[in-house]
Amino acid sequence: MKRRILNIACIGAGYVGGPTMAVIADRCPDISVTVIDLNEARIAAWNSGSLPVYEPGLDDVVRRTRGRNLRFIPQRDGAAAVAAADAVFISVTAPTKTQGSGAGKASDLSYVEACARYIAEHATGHTIVIEKSTMPVRAADTIKRILATSPHGGIFDVLSNPEFLAEGTAIRDLEKPDRVLIGGEAPEAVEALAEVYAHWVPDQAILRTGLWSAELSKLAANAFLAQRVSSINAISALCEVTGAQVDEVAKVLGSDSRIGPKFLKASVGFGGSCFKKDLLSLVYLCEFYGLTEPAAYWQSVQDLNEWQKRRFAQMAAAHAKKNGGVVAVLGLAFKKNTNDFRESPAIDICNHLLAEGVSLRLQDERVDPKAFCEVLVDETEAGFSFFRDVEEAVRDAGSILVLTEWDLYANLDWSKLSCLTASSAMVFDGRMIIDHTGAREAGVSTFVVGSGNA
Ligand code: UDX
Ligand code: UDX
Repeated sequence: MKRRILNIACIGAGYVGGPTMAVIADRCPDISVTVIDLNEARIAAWNSGSLPVYEPGLDDVVRRTRGRNLRFIPQRDGAAAVAAADAVFISVTAPTKTQGSGAGKASDLSYVEACARYIAEHATGHTIVIEKSTMPVRAADTIKRILATSPHGGIFDVLSNPEFLAEGTAIRDLEKPDRVLIGGEAPEAVEALAEVYAHWVPDQAILRTGLWSAELSKLAANAFLAQRVSSINAISALCEVTGAQVDEVAKVLGSDSRIGPKFLKASVGFGGSCFKKDLLSLVYLCEFYGLTEPAAYWQSVQDLNEWQKRRFAQMAAAHAKKNGGVVAVLGLAFKKNTNDFRESPAIDICNHLLAEGVSLRLQDERVDPKAFCEVLVDETEAGFSFFRDVEEAVRDAGSILVLTEWDLYANLDWSKLSCLTASSAMVFDGRMIIDHTGAREAGVSTFVVGSGNA
């Protein structure tokens, strides 16, 4: 029997659930969408003029849809929305486990399980339950087992529909996705969800697979992307000692159509809530199935990333200690155009510098200073302060670190900044973004990741 989705509920109003549901509501005016979250302050922010997530274009989409066919409500009021829903998305975090078996690698499914219990309790009739969160392979089994306990005899289909959006470009990625992936067992449920996306995504871009392939594809996609960054970062270190330029090497590599140009930007290391967590989850899965060499292979991608951050921090700390002990850190977000700093390289690098007794002057375009300062560990009491202005941040700094590729940093006027910094200042550019010639001409020396002229 053909099924139709006219009512959607989504549990989890985060960086993924919020923007994804806003775009579905925008593109499907015939579908009513309710986003539910345990965090009431976050729901209040979604209902205010200051959204909890910064994404270019998101404000406009929410302005068009909120109060029309999109609403945000706290979970304590969510039972009726789940009861009325034809489909419920689960879009909550599945972080790395911190205790118990698999601690440090395996995904903690407790939030996902709590969502499944909530759905089991409140859903009525026939409901399609959709994994949007990245899950380990066969997580759908766990969800199905919980749903089977539904006290109202609800009938459920479970689908895997992982998100591929990248923060900073979420709206563009959602509106024009390379592909939408739907994994499932019941063809009617798969087609019902495909029909939702068909409002704006061409059918050939909607890939249908089995459940386990969909779950694994998401983990594998992030692992492949992370592997490219670690590969180019491994080459960046070799460039620095041989006199080669990593951007030139990347251009040559990327012009081979078999390799392709994207995700070859050397950096201070990758960050974000997904890559590390998903790599470790993949390592754990390999180990669980006794696949020792594949586990070691994926672990090495993560290890290289840690090494890249560490060597950058060590270089910067060595310079800072010889040059006044004051460091300006430009860029705290894990990439540009987001206020998200989860797993940002800036966290480890700042903590390394603080542990070395270096004091920090922090600056970022969007990151909430109070929240960022909470992840800093200042045991040596070196001290840190936050500025919105680059000019203020670099004042009296002997070392300047550029850790996020905000456009602003490409256009800094070094002749002006050099009057504010300490003498013999040096910039450590972890994103290959600043005007190096301008900086050098202004008397500021530069270290650029992957640059053999360093
Ligand atoms: C998360 C996962 O990190 C990612 O792997 C997955 O692909 C999508 O979901 P994100 O949206 O970035 O990504 O997480 P976050 O911004 O932390 O949002 C999750 C939201 O779920 C939070 O607002 C949290 O309050 C909410 N939540 C969590 C619930 O409403 N109920 C819960 O039981 C747990
Ligand atoms: C990633 C995936 O791209 C997305 O498909 C998935 O749904 C979630 O995880 P995200 O983490 O939001 O998205 O951002 P992404 O653009 O992938 O960047 C991740 C990290 O890699 C950032 O810290 C970024 O600066 C870094 N990066 C990326 C590089 O250092 N070099 C590159 O060439 C690309």
